[in-house]
Amino acid sequence: MQPIVKKIKDRVNIIDIIGSLIKLDRAGINHKACCPFHHEKTPSFFVSEQRQTFNCFGCGVKGDVVEFIKLYEHLDFKDALRYVFDKSGLPESDWQQNQERSLQDIKADQEKKDAQNLFEKVVDIYHTNLLQKDNTRVQDYLTKRGLKIETIKDWKIGYTPEAWQFVEENIQDKNQSILLEKIGIVKSKDGKRYDFFRDRIIFPIFDIQGHAIAISARIVDKGEPKYLNSPDTILFNKSEVLYGLDKAKDGIRKFKYTILVEGQMDLLLCHQEGFNNTVATSGTALTDKHLQILRRYTNNLMLIYDADKAGLAATIKAWTLALKYGFEVKTAVMTAGEDPASLLLKDKKLFLNIIKNATHVIDYIISQSDNKSRISTKNSLERIIPLIASLESSVDREFFSKKTAEFFDLSLENINTELQKYSQSEYTYIDSNNRVNVNDVDNSGPEKKVYTTIVKALAEFKSLVYIYNQQLNTLDSKSEGIKPDSDNIKKTDSYIYEYKNSDLGKLQVEYIPDLNSMFDDFEKMDEEVIFNLENIYSQKKVDLDFYRQEIEISYKNFTHKIYNLIFQEIQNKLKKAEIIKDINLINKYTQDINILWQNQKR
Ligand code: UTP
Ligand code: MN
Repeated sequence: MQPIVKKIKDRVNIIDIIGSLIKLDRAGINHKACCPFHHEKTPSFFVSEQRQTFNCFGCGVKGDVVEFIKLYEHLDFKDALRYVFDKSGLPESDWQQNQERSLQDIKADQEKKDAQNLFEKVVDIYHTNLLQKDNTRVQDYLTKRGLKIETIKDWKIGYTPEAWQFVEENIQDKNQSILLEKIGIVKSKDGKRYDFFRDRIIFPIFDIQGHAIAISARIVDKGEPKYLNSPDTILFNKSEVLYGLDKAKDGIRKFKYTILVEGQMDLLLCHQEGFNNTVATSGTALTDKHLQILRRYTNNLMLIYDADKAGLAATIKAWTLALKYGFEVKTAVMTAGEDPASLLLKDKKLFLNIIKNATHVIDYIISQSDNKSRISTKNSLERIIPLIASLESSVDREFFSKKTAEFFDLSLENINTELQKYSQSEYTYIDSNNRVNVNDVDNSGPEKKVYTTIVKALAEFKSLVYIYNQQLNTLDSKSEGIKPDSDNIKKTDSYIYEYKNSDLGKLQVEYIPDLNSMFDDFEKMDEEVIFNLENIYSQKKVDLDFYRQEIEISYKNFTHKIYNLIFQEIQNKLKKAEIIKDINLINKYTQDINILWQNQKR
């Protein structure tokens, strides 16, 4: 940490600063409030005076006082620091000296700068290569897809040939191997280095300032995997970058809304055809971070819904998240069989019409309910209620509740009851890593519902571990087929062992003993595991890094669910203890909340 940051933080109290912006209540040794970053009715947002940090057990935001200001006031780090500095009473001269930095910081900055320069050089090499006269196969393909030469140049699109050392052979300054590996361009195995991207179209991904920091590489025409993406590096964090934002900033300000598409090609065609307020998530689901960034420009968001591609469940997840962040979310529904890229080429007028006639997502779901039979009403409500519940503004919630009641000929009380039921059962905050759809689990009461969700998450996790281990084993023998063997089971069990001995596992035994039997079920769930294996395998993804990441996400997902459940449990108990003013119990529960807090792995 920079000395100035420490100095500022030592002078202020997080309780005073957060307390001046939102209402904090004392809770044992901590303070709590309803989270200012997501909609909730029961406080999950805690501030620790002792540690000078905050944490929301509902949506997972956490950090120190500067981080809070960053998020709350939508500032970057430096401006947030200045905000806190102004409250600290330190003399202006201290801020000025802030320019002096430690040697380590300077070194890290230098490395990043070098990495940045190198990355842009590599992108130039790929780009120049694409424009070579004899590269007609790739050029023709891009022309066929509708990309104009100006677009190819503006976006520095490139091509990397079928070669293993293309980059190093073409780079001017030699001895860059280590850095090339650090930025994900070159990989090494057994001391040998080779190009990560080969025979692919190169789409450089730019940061907000327009520097190329990563690559999404498409196969030329047909093949698997269609896209190969840069790993996270010192330059790139995929959950934080939106493709095209550097060029869309002005368009977003001008049109006062952002169009969000899924694919590289969609984004390029949108920009080329004048919809330059478009951004894309490239290769990941929409994350909290993406939305925090977009919120800086406008809170009007247009999500393109590709009716036959993504399942509605995945789309609804993105809508829900965006609504939670207070966005006005509209959806433009593409005609069957088209995505934005293809429709723009075929019929630009129609595309424009679809954008113009886009409706609020809740209106869209309502309009999709064609008949008002009891069953169809119940099905529609199952989709609509979570969306209304995630609306940030209470005015909006009332508005759409009334509209829904009217449309389905129900009383407003009825809708409110459903909303209440839903919020109570909503143990898991639907975040971007939530791989199991909470809504397609059975309805036998909230406890059962969450229980099933955890088991599913665990099964998914177990499947991934199997695949991963199996892939490692069969990498050389190239044998097909996957069957969990005893070795894999042992490896999986070691995760469970680790969990059981963790603080999280121990709190769970104390607060939700009902879940203990889950692990017995787990041993018996091979059927579910095999089903998942088939599912995952059918996507033909045979990339070990991919699985390693998936396993981590999946393990986090499963522990995160348990973690939420424990928190709910303690929260309920704390509420009761506060009513009867039992100081001992209040202290015990808040201490347990602190243990939970320290074990947070997000
Ligand atoms: P799409 O399959 O819609 O790709 O995936 P696309 O961009 O429309 O490509 P075309 O039209 O077939 O050329 C949407 C996005 O998901 C990511 C890519 O970022 C892609 O643009 N993706 C897709 C991957 O990361 N890996 C894949 O194997 C496939
Ligand atoms: Mn496409």
